[in-house]
Amino acid sequence: MICSLNPPWKTMLSLLLTTMMALQTMAMLEVNVPEQPVVVLHGRDAVLNCSFSPASAFNLSDLSIFWQLTDTKRSVHGYWGERDQLVDQAERFANRTSLWPVQLGLGNASLLLSSVVVADEGSYTCFVRVQDYGSAALLLLVAAPYSKPVVTLESETNLRPGDELALTCVAYGGYPEAGVIWQDGGGRNLTENITTSLVANEEGLFTMTSVLTVVLEPNSTYSCGLFNPLLGEEGYAFVTITGQNMAFPPVALWVTVGLAVCLLVLLIALAAVCSRKIKESCEEARREAEEAKELEEEESKTGVGARRRAGDESGGSAYSLIQEVGGKNVMGFKEENASLEDIFNGLIGPLKMNVGKDF
Ligand SMILES: *[C@@H]1O[C@H](CO)[C@@H](O)[C@H](O)[C@H]1NC(C)=O
Ligand SMILES: *[C@@H]1O[C@H](CO)[C@@H](O)[C@H](O)[C@H]1NC(C)=O
Ligand SMILES: *[C@@H]1O[C@H](CO)[C@@H](O)[C@H](O)[C@H]1NC(C)=O
Ligand SMILES: *[C@@H]1O[C@H](CO)[C@@H](O)[C@H](O)[C@H]1NC(C)=O
Ligand SMILES: *[C@@H]1O[C@H](CO)[C@@H](O)[C@H](O)[C@H]1NC(C)=O
Ligand SMILES: *[C@@H]1O[C@H](CO)[C@@H](O)[C@H](O)[C@H]1NC(C)=O
Ligand SMILES: *[C@@H]1O[C@H](CO)[C@@H](O)[C@H](O)[C@H]1NC(C)=O
Repeated sequence: MICSLNPPWKTMLSLLLTTMMALQTMAMLEVNVPEQPVVVLHGRDAVLNCSFSPASAFNLSDLSIFWQLTDTKRSVHGYWGERDQLVDQAERFANRTSLWPVQLGLGNASLLLSSVVVADEGSYTCFVRVQDYGSAALLLLVAAPYSKPVVTLESETNLRPGDELALTCVAYGGYPEAGVIWQDGGGRNLTENITTSLVANEEGLFTMTSVLTVVLEPNSTYSCGLFNPLLGEEGYAFVTITGQNMAFPPVALWVTVGLAVCLLVLLIALAAVCSRKIKESCEEARREAEEAKELEEEESKTGVGARRRAGDESGGSAYSLIQEVGGKNVMGFKEENASLEDIFNGLIGPLKMNVGKDF
């Protein structure tokens, strides 16, 4: 009773059944493709296997083969009338596809696709018709290995235990998206606190950047491992942050410290040399000053300048100046060692005063 109330439904069912039977009678040709996805490395050639087994020996002129993209039905490669038919071939497959003519009679309709790129990834359908026809679809996947990952620190200065720090792990030129596993030295999974981003280049290959945020502990190791779902483990990189690094992380600081130490040693040596020299000239000066005094007393009548004479005798060095400042002989070595004095003046005032105090 219900059936008679629903004639359209009944009609549709019978129509469907006849269509299915028609398809079944027509699709007698068995066509086989790989069930597992075909994985091809970026840049390499791919063989998309497709084989058929006709009921009996056949005339090649009766054979038609259509390879097309399953989703868009765009033509990848056509063959009938005993030759390739590429008029409606999608442009990006131009000059990249071929069949094996000798193999066709043996039921091998496999397609050679050269220089596979990321954009080739997808489902391909192989249609074969002799008298009957059949079809099957396979999945092509493209893989590219990533470069060895590199881990860098956000900033290498003034690291202290307890600081929050961003570690960046970068690898490029790979496909598809890789899995990232961050671990510490003890193998603890740190993958919870990461941010991973992917950027594709014009070839569709990815640069993968994964940022891990950690609270720094002394002597810690952080490793970044890459896992390509098609190629397996790809490599890993790690950084170790030692206690030393935390105290004086940058090379620049070490250089600075080293230079400062060198300079200090140099200055102390200079101070020692200079103070000895000044002491010597000081004693000489005192001696000569006494002489000069006597001379002055003697010569006060002859009119010869004591200063000039003393200066002549000491070759223009300490003596004349010591005389001028009247015993406060801070600059005693000025004329002889002008450049050293500049260093003292410019760099280390207090030390200069100490030198002066020695005498
Ligand atoms: C294609 O078929 C040949 C012969 O059956 C087989 O050796 C080869 O592994 C197949 N290739 C793929 C990618 O399935
Ligand atoms: C078809 O022939 C080609 C070329 O000899 C070969 O590489 C491929 O594996 C063959 N495929 C099958 C399914 O036999
Ligand atoms: C194949 O077909 C062509 C054209 O239909 C015909 O001329 C030829 O004789 C056939 N060859 C065989 C072996 O049947
Ligand atoms: C394909 O090859 C032909 C001849 O070698 C050439 O003229 C044509 O430009 C090529 N097409 C592409 C898209 O490379
Ligand atoms: C992730 O970060 C939170 C907050 O910074 C922290 O409490 C947690 O321990 C971290 N997880 C791991 C696995 O390091
Ligand atoms: C690490 O932790 C992340 C997030 O908690 C998880 O998705 C991942 O499967 C873990 N990996 C391993 C190797 O334990
Ligand atoms: C870090 O490691 C070094 C050498 O492995 C060790 O000498 C130092 O004591 C360690 N520091 C800490 C804080 O664990």
